[in-house]
Amino acid sequence: MAISLTPLHPVIGAECSGVDISQPLTKVDAAAIDTGMDRYAVLVFRQGTPLTTEQQLAFTLNFGELEAPYTQIQAAQGVRWNTAGLSDISNISPSGGLLDRDDRKRLSGLGNQMWHSDSSYKAIPARYSLLCAHVLPPEGGDTQFADMRAAYDMLDTKTKTQIEDLDCEHSRIFSKGALGIPFTEKELRDFAPVRQRLVRTHRTTGRKSLYLSSHAGRIVGWPAPEAQILLRELTEHATQREFVYTHRWRVGDLVMWDNRTTMHRARRYDDMMYPRDLRRTTVTDGVPTVEQKAQAA
Ligand code: OGA
Ligand code: MN
Repeated sequence: MAISLTPLHPVIGAECSGVDISQPLTKVDAAAIDTGMDRYAVLVFRQGTPLTTEQQLAFTLNFGELEAPYTQIQAAQGVRWNTAGLSDISNISPSGGLLDRDDRKRLSGLGNQMWHSDSSYKAIPARYSLLCAHVLPPEGGDTQFADMRAAYDMLDTKTKTQIEDLDCEHSRIFSKGALGIPFTEKELRDFAPVRQRLVRTHRTTGRKSLYLSSHAGRIVGWPAPEAQILLRELTEHATQREFVYTHRWRVGDLVMWDNRTTMHRARRYDDMMYPRDLRRTTVTDGVPTVEQKAQAA
């Protein structure tokens, strides 16, 4: 059976069917999924059953290399598993209960409710993220995706010219700091800001997109307030309803998105009452965005 892609929204997102992602993929199917990502930026696979860790890692490796391990903000009791490459996007503690209200992993995880692009705080950021739903709350907890290509296209010419060559600085210090999360001395060192292009050009499609994120806190060479005002204005523009697909999860769904061309955020749910267990694998993009400009020129 051939892969088919059914759009979920006028500009972003499609449901992918006709492929069993729990089994090894043929080269043809993997290429069709990659091409679908270039077109839709978000693909939804409705499996009915969550992938096992091995299955999710195997599926992910069709699309590139996993991100290198990096400093995570951990729960008071430590981690739920030691599998490198599988991120725990849940409100569950290693003992199986819900994280306490003031647990650092919970507070840090609330940052996912701000519009962001995964790992934009790393010099080499993420290409694809793949998130699989294991346990869901009865209400809330949707995930939204904003199309940063469509958002770029709809900017006026003057703004496009103004932002074309700007570099930003991204760090978890900006995103989690804005939420009032304090950092240790080591974290302040580990989370030192990195540079990213504000406008990116997709390697395959040649389409331009805005590279925004809650982690973006400065524009290189600009006074801080002026940078904040522009970044906030662009974010407001880019997250208008016409650019946003809202994913209402079902257990077993796997959603794959392109961090180069989208932002996403989790929506609020009652995390003191209900477990929500999602598991993420992430493919690195391989090169810093500041070098991609030189390649494109
Ligand atoms: C993520 C993320 C959003 C969500 O896994 O990177 O931001 O809805 N998740 O949990
Ligand atoms: Mn994320």
